[in-house]
Amino acid sequence: CGIVGYIGKRDVAPLLLEGLQRLEYRGYDSAGVVITSPKATGLKMVKAKGRVRDLEARVPKRFTGTTGIAHTRWATHGAPSDENAHPHMSADNKVAVVHNGIIDNATELRAKLEADGVVFLSETDTEVLTHLVARSEAPTLEERVRQALKLVEGTYGIAVMHADFNDRIVVARNGSPVVLGIGEKEMFVASDVAALVAHTRQVVTLDDGEMATLKADDFRTYTTEGSRTTATPTTVEWEAESYDMGGHDTYMHKEIYEQVDAVDRVLRGRIDDRFSTVHLGGLNLDARAARGIRRVKILGCGTSYHAGQIGAQMIEELARIPADAEPASEFRYRDPVVDPDTLYIAVSQSGETYDVLAAVQELKRKGARVLGVVNVVGSAIARETDGGVYVHAGPEVCVVSTKCFTNTVVAFGLLALHLGRIRDLSVADGKRIIEGLRKLPGQISEILAGEDEIKKLAEQFTDAKSMLFIGRVRGYPVAREASLKLKEVSYIHAEAYPASELKHGPLALIEPAMPTVAIVPDDDLLEKNRAALEEIKARSGKIVAVAHQVQEKADHTIVVPKNEDELDPILMGIPLQLLAYHTALALGRDIDKPRNLAKSVTVE
Ligand code: G6P
Repeated sequence: CGIVGYIGKRDVAPLLLEGLQRLEYRGYDSAGVVITSPKATGLKMVKAKGRVRDLEARVPKRFTGTTGIAHTRWATHGAPSDENAHPHMSADNKVAVVHNGIIDNATELRAKLEADGVVFLSETDTEVLTHLVARSEAPTLEERVRQALKLVEGTYGIAVMHADFNDRIVVARNGSPVVLGIGEKEMFVASDVAALVAHTRQVVTLDDGEMATLKADDFRTYTTEGSRTTATPTTVEWEAESYDMGGHDTYMHKEIYEQVDAVDRVLRGRIDDRFSTVHLGGLNLDARAARGIRRVKILGCGTSYHAGQIGAQMIEELARIPADAEPASEFRYRDPVVDPDTLYIAVSQSGETYDVLAAVQELKRKGARVLGVVNVVGSAIARETDGGVYVHAGPEVCVVSTKCFTNTVVAFGLLALHLGRIRDLSVADGKRIIEGLRKLPGQISEILAGEDEIKKLAEQFTDAKSMLFIGRVRGYPVAREASLKLKEVSYIHAEAYPASELKHGPLALIEPAMPTVAIVPDDDLLEKNRAALEEIKARSGKIVAVAHQVQEKADHTIVVPKNEDELDPILMGIPLQLLAYHTALALGRDIDKPRNLAKSVTVE
């Protein structure tokens, strides 16, 4: 979900609606806004099920004010509806709350409040907070919010307004991001810098257990216990322009094309030709510690998990350290054995995915060494880890990840090379990998130049009910990510399988109506992969191969440029991003905002 708030002199409604647009990627099943002004006697609210544009259509003409908070929702408790949309207001119209996160003891608190005669208007956990604040009689709004928070268990990023204290907005954070934007005689708050950068680059990120009071010309931060904290604004690097579509019809298309520059950026300033290695300034891992690592465990969710799988293979290949990746959500619930000689790496585009953050916190609590491979600078995971590598993909807006996936994999290439060169990777191999890395941006351009061919190909798949993606070893995580991409954006069912496992089940599905996409790199497994293609062809299956040379058994081969064997997985998925995109486009899907998904899942 997304939060945005403003207090200052400007007309607040259009400002908040624009902020919500920028946050829609975090959820978009309903939205709402509440506003007031210093002279107003109460709060005015509008909410709507659906997109921010549905809310905009509902905002009345004279909906003016200079203070307000707004929210775009991704449903957890209660279906998307007008009532369940945030803000949640108290019966006397005095208190309004927007909330990200989940209140774990909401059911219990709700029962108590209802027994006391409170009437609930929604099914949300958030409404509990509204009533708790409204019932407090403490002298200040800060104290009322604090008293309410004392009673709740769970995660939250909240913003609260009160008609009797309309010179301020009070916000609090516990497990769900809250960022303050510091302006000239105006203050902003949001769950994400994306909503702020158009207005100010000066931001303060709240820590867990921290609260803040925003007034038009002043802000202060303090803990939920009430003691003051120091907050020094930092400058965010991202330009507001990065959020514009830049001539593309969708963010997904724009971000696929941005990969050329993005990969250049993750490499920039990091290559050390003298020692055939790389500098990773934020790693915080000296050579002795690096040599002591006996295993690497990579944790992430969704696309970041797949990037981690490729990363694990690169680390095994180049640094010869046993490595594997696991969904962070699974890891944290299976009571894992935390080993002091294992290097744990948390991967996350947003740096805010709750399951990944929770895994990091559990690992830290058990004394493990945890690094981050993260895109958003200063995000929760970046701050909680002992060090790491920023992937510098720039803001990614489309819900499905493309450029960030690629940059994350490249960042793992750098890390694998770094660890390899500290251990047993030769100078010659170091040099070979560096040359390979340098070729990537040009080779990505070459792949993107083939868009028309892929577009034509995609048109053949629009009536497929299901598709199979296969790959072997290096190709397998590529197949998994490509299958996820197609599923997310086109809603066509897709399944990824190791090519080697075909005969143990999936062959039963092969028929002309079930196309297969095969990843067939020119490496030592080429012949094995060809055999898999034969098996499919013999059952009249239709095949698209992504390969370094035309595959006879395939109905169509997308030929991609060859890099070093270890780095090939970085490139082989890129044409399949375009395949997913064009299939979804031909089907008329909502490409940047697929149904039921959110870009950052900051709840459990
Ligand atoms: C959500 C998004 C995915 C993303 C995953 C992990 O499920 O829809 O696209 O891969 O979260 O996000 P992160 O920000 O941690 O990489």
